[in-house]
Amino acid sequence: MHGIDNNQRAIFFGAQGDTRWNQKRLQTELPGFVHHELDIRDRLGLLALLRDVRPSAIVHTAAQPSHDRAATIPFDDFDTNAVGTLNLLEAARQACPEAPFVHMSTNKVYGDAPNRIALKESETRWDFADPVYAEGIAETFTIDHSMHSLFGASKVAADVMVQEYGRYFNMPTCCLRGGCLTGPNHSGVELHGFLSYLVKCNLEGREYKVFGYKGKQVRDNVHSLDVARFMAAFVDSPRVGEVYNLGGGKANSTSILEAFRITENYTGKIQVYTYVEQNRAGDHVCYFSNLEKMRRHYPNWNITESLESIIRQIVEAWKVRQ
Ligand SMILES: NC(=O)c1ccc[n+]([C@@H]2O[C@H](COP(=O)([O-])OP(=O)(O)OC[C@H]3O[C@@H](n4cnc5c(N)ncnc54)[C@H](O)[C@@H]3O)[C@@H](O)[C@H]2O)c1
Repeated sequence: MHGIDNNQRAIFFGAQGDTRWNQKRLQTELPGFVHHELDIRDRLGLLALLRDVRPSAIVHTAAQPSHDRAATIPFDDFDTNAVGTLNLLEAARQACPEAPFVHMSTNKVYGDAPNRIALKESETRWDFADPVYAEGIAETFTIDHSMHSLFGASKVAADVMVQEYGRYFNMPTCCLRGGCLTGPNHSGVELHGFLSYLVKCNLEGREYKVFGYKGKQVRDNVHSLDVARFMAAFVDSPRVGEVYNLGGGKANSTSILEAFRITENYTGKIQVYTYVEQNRAGDHVCYFSNLEKMRRHYPNWNITESLESIIRQIVEAWKVRQ
């Protein structure tokens, strides 16, 4: 198994976002794992590596992953997310076109269009009032006529290109439009990885800032294990140019206020937070993925880690990593 990462996350987010610890863990714990210190913006470097390794499958998760960060580094964001993905697709086409290619996309490709769905408000969360979305947002939802943030736009470019390499070149590609992907190994920071960061703040007694929507904004959370299990299912039985909304679904959805309560239950510590009236630009009020298509195409796949289990594992992990 080969991994490509240049620890760009530490450059995007500073020392708190450093992922070297995880790279070292993989090198120590995964027999045969080979790390490549390579920037996916390095087109020729990628092509040379893929020609050399000829991988039997590619899972592409390298990205600039933050809305807010993208606005301050638009070229780095686009060069990494859009051009980096194109570099990898084209290198794959030249070196190993038959290898299943899984691309980690994002639900932000839908921009803020989900905010046009009628909502109902309860004491701790927003929910969809329109019965069409009772089980969440499906892959047929529009990606057009909405505000995406620069990050969302660079991810749309990558997403469409991955679909196109499937349809145009008949390569076995898919886009996984992620909800909140997380787990005990997430290096959550304020600008990205809300659940991991929220738990970290709780444990350290550090103030968590809630941006708008009364703290009732809803996200679906999926454990990285269930993400990896879906990727493996696709690699085992690939299709061409597919798109899936990969999140935790309705059952694993939570508002920020609800996440505070669950975390407090596990840590025994009161969450310290402040409320900022202004929401993040383009931020979803309520989003959870409809998992129906994934379950239909891959009936052996399902969510195995509940929201409570994810939060408990993040708590345990941060205690050790602090
Ligand atoms: N975590 C989430 O909630 C979430 C939600 C939806 C989509 N996604 C998508 O999933 C993917 C992975 O997200 P994550 O949360 O693991 O992010 P992450 O920042 O933790 O991981 C991305 C990795 O890519 C590396 N990287 C960045 N730029 C690189 C470059 N130019 N060359 C080589 N390596 C580079 C970083 O160092 C980092 O280790 C991204 O595509 C992201 O957009 C994540």
